[in-house]
Amino acid sequence: MRIWTMIFGLFAVAATATASAQDLTWRKDIQPIMTAKCAGCHGANQPGFDEWNVKRVNDKSLAPRLDTYAFFMNHVVWPETGAIMRRLDDGKGAAGGKPGNMYSFLGADDAERAKNLQTLKAWLGEGAWNLNRWQKRGDTPGISKEQLDKIKAKY
Ligand code: HEC
Repeated sequence: MRIWTMIFGLFAVAATATASAQDLTWRKDIQPIMTAKCAGCHGANQPGFDEWNVKRVNDKSLAPRLDTYAFFMNHVVWPETGAIMRRLDDGKGAAGGKPGNMYSFLGADDAERAKNLQTLKAWLGEGAWNLNRWQKRGDTPGISKEQLDKIKAKY
């Protein structure tokens, strides 16, 4: 019995590890995470990117709407390039890095947060998890065309 449990477990791990940007979609894999973990603050009642961008000047704690593909991608590609990555990063990439301030919402515990982060990264595409902004800031260069090319993010 135990051996079968182990074999099944190994298959399950292999299947997760090989899920790639090709198989994952916004509709099937990402929107459910957003609905479960983020929509309480980033749902349909919040202003979409342009409105939010105007209003946030006077309201620093205003959360943008992130529950549709288009609004979400405004914070991945342009104009808020890399915002999703900076806010959701677990801080383990850069030496001495801190997790982004939205990372804690990704799950109830470390395991769930890690799993959802992995799904998001795989969906965006290999090498697409870049924290760069559109413009250079300090020592961090602006995003490159090569980095942008990595974004797959299938709808
Ligand atoms: C308890 C409410 C709350 C939850 C839950 C929440 N957020 Fe936020 N989020 C905010 C608020 C408020 C802001 C604006 C203030 C700030 O920038 O920190 C924000 C800002 C952001 C930004 C920055 C947008 C930009 O371009 O600067 C991103 C990205 C983001 N959230 C992603 C998420 C994701 C993804 C989730 C789910 C895993 C999530 N948030 C869950 C309240 C929340």
